[in-house]
Amino acid sequence: MSQPLPEAVLARLLKAGPAPVSGETLAKQAGVTRAAVWKAIETLRGDGYEVESVPTRGYRLASSPGALRQAEIEARLTTERFGRELRVLAEVDSTNREAARWAAEGAPEGAAVVAVRQTAGRGRLGRSWFGGGGGALMASLILRPGMPPGQTGLITYVAALSLAKTLLRWLPEEAVEIKWPNDVLVRGRKIAGILLESRIEGGVADFVIVGIGVNVAGSRDAMPEEIKGTAAILSEETKPGGGPTVVGLFTELLGEFEQTWRTFSDGGFSKLKAEWEKFFHMAGREVTVAIGDRRLKGTVEGMLQDGSLALISGGERKIIFAGDVELATTRAV
Ligand code: BTN
Repeated sequence: MSQPLPEAVLARLLKAGPAPVSGETLAKQAGVTRAAVWKAIETLRGDGYEVESVPTRGYRLASSPGALRQAEIEARLTTERFGRELRVLAEVDSTNREAARWAAEGAPEGAAVVAVRQTAGRGRLGRSWFGGGGGALMASLILRPGMPPGQTGLITYVAALSLAKTLLRWLPEEAVEIKWPNDVLVRGRKIAGILLESRIEGGVADFVIVGIGVNVAGSRDAMPEEIKGTAAILSEETKPGGGPTVVGLFTELLGEFEQTWRTFSDGGFSKLKAEWEKFFHMAGREVTVAIGDRRLKGTVEGMLQDGSLALISGGERKIIFAGDVELATTRAV
């Protein structure tokens, strides 16, 4: 058997949808006894799956906790390539690191790593990343863009746009914002961070890892003090019970990412810029940009075709390629 029995039973029940599947069928397909199937069902129930026993007809999956489980992710995937090669881990140092190790061994484009817990989650600018009080999506995707290293920064915008579009399934458009270069905000507070890491070989990016962390649910109290007031949690932003599970968000995001990535690979960022700008609400706003040790105050003019930020500062136009932006005021939504 290639899968643990509870996974195999879950996969079969997910495939059957609302139709019950008999214990005999489940046992035959897995090549085990009916007693073993019953034990696997009990394991699933213990993990929060509501499995109904339908008299004389078998078992039916009534509801799922939406926890990260290979079988459930696979059953929900709508993609061709993204997430089809998948590592689902209970714990890892960092999904970005794991994805880089896997990519170095030859994992294909679209392979994905997702974990319930990170012990050394990585953030931008060498910071660490908090993994969300039990309800965070922490995932990394492997890309093989074969492009010059100088252009890979644009992939950040592909990732932010994919996530912003995914969030619209549960939130109104005006609530979702992309903060240059790679944060996604909901009603002015950071809900997600994106971290790109790449390996360069022979003058091109051999692989790029796109790491995405999203606060899906979980407790604000468990968050570190410094982000408690500035972080958004998706379950607090939707109607009660109206938000996605971690699995739901992940599989929807993979679908959106695959499409956005195809558009980018075929036509470049110019094909996405207009759509990206719908989520960019920084134009005309006062900001302070930290660039290394320097801090530059100014008014945002816009984002240029190459992904850099144009800022009017002290009457001059400054072009910024990388930095950390602080918004002076929050936008009313
Ligand atoms: C940021 O600083 O805003 C970027 C945070 C990126 C966090 C994600 S969580 C999944 C992936 N694995 C990591 O170690 N980091 C990224």
